[in-house]
Amino acid sequence: MTTVVSFINYKGGVGKTTTAYHVSCSLAQHFRQKVLMIDIDPQTNLTFLCASPTQWQRRKRNVGTIKNLYSQYTQRHALDVRRFIWNDAVVIGRYPISGLDMIPCDIDLLGEDLGGGQVVGTFPTMQAIRQNAQQYLRERSFLMKVIDAVRDRYDWVLIDCPPNLYLMTQNALHASNYYVVTAIPDHLSTIGLSILTQKIRNIGDVISATQPLAGSKGTHTVADLGAIVFVKVRIGGSMITTTHDTTMRDIASEEFARDKVVPKYTTELIGYSEAAENRVPVWEHDSENARRAAQKNEYPEITRELIARLRRPSQT
Ligand SMILES: Nc1ncnc2c1ncn2[C@@H]1O[C@H](COP(=O)(O)OP(=O)(O)OP(=O)(O)O)[C@@H](O)[C@H]1O
Ligand SMILES: [Mg+2]
Repeated sequence: MTTVVSFINYKGGVGKTTTAYHVSCSLAQHFRQKVLMIDIDPQTNLTFLCASPTQWQRRKRNVGTIKNLYSQYTQRHALDVRRFIWNDAVVIGRYPISGLDMIPCDIDLLGEDLGGGQVVGTFPTMQAIRQNAQQYLRERSFLMKVIDAVRDRYDWVLIDCPPNLYLMTQNALHASNYYVVTAIPDHLSTIGLSILTQKIRNIGDVISATQPLAGSKGTHTVADLGAIVFVKVRIGGSMITTTHDTTMRDIASEEFARDKVVPKYTTELIGYSEAAENRVPVWEHDSENARRAAQKNEYPEITRELIARLRRPSQT
């Protein structure tokens, strides 16, 4: 059974993409899992962790990106999902990481992401209510349909979301079993975490409430909070700096985060950015800084922890 996980935070620059990427690489490389990464952030960062700008341009021209797949959906054409999958997306030297594919993104998704009708106001007839409700669910079911088309080929589907909760992120939440929140443990980065989880519950409540209005028989819902991963933790000497240490403890003791904080976190190290520039996971980059980061074995341990927490029952 496939586990679908979205990496979410409406705050920017808090490690969503770096974590989605490294966990995907580790699942495929260290745990021999079949993984599909889906980039739904028009910033296209996950895509550029895998492809050079030239490779991406060629791919966009010859095949297309998730933007084209989305156009198929909005124009009610059949979804040709397999065509848009970039097989063997991460290449180490001359060899790809086996079992790791992606659906790349595109800056042109930007305008689409804000779209979406709302079920608000009063509807004059039952038929109008039903049509609006069906439209509302349809607008949030694109990614679910994409994943359904290829579900049998993957153990995991990991979705890198933009820093917002707009339509495409709602699609991701609707399509996922779990969402993982990444956060830097400082005051401003964590102040909204409980509100974030509340907002996501609200999105789920509206989707569930819309379902009977749409005359739908499915059980539409959104992802559960699967885990909270702290990133870029600052170390002074051999100790975590006091503010980061205090914030991590404070968050872990809050009700919404109970048992959700992954004990392993990533430390703030330049090696991560260096590896990103070279489009390889940090344990594959040959530099002093990357080796220092890789020695800590942070993402493989985070991945092991996520497997233990999120893997669905029949996966091996
Ligand atoms: N542990 C780390 N140490 C140092 N730099 C890091 C670490 N993790 C991530 N970074 C860097 O921090 C920056 C932001 O990370 P990332 O792009 O993963 O965040 P994001 O939440 O996806 O951002 P956005 O909201 O813009 O999509 C990137 O330049 C990344 O290389
Ligand atoms: Mg990102």
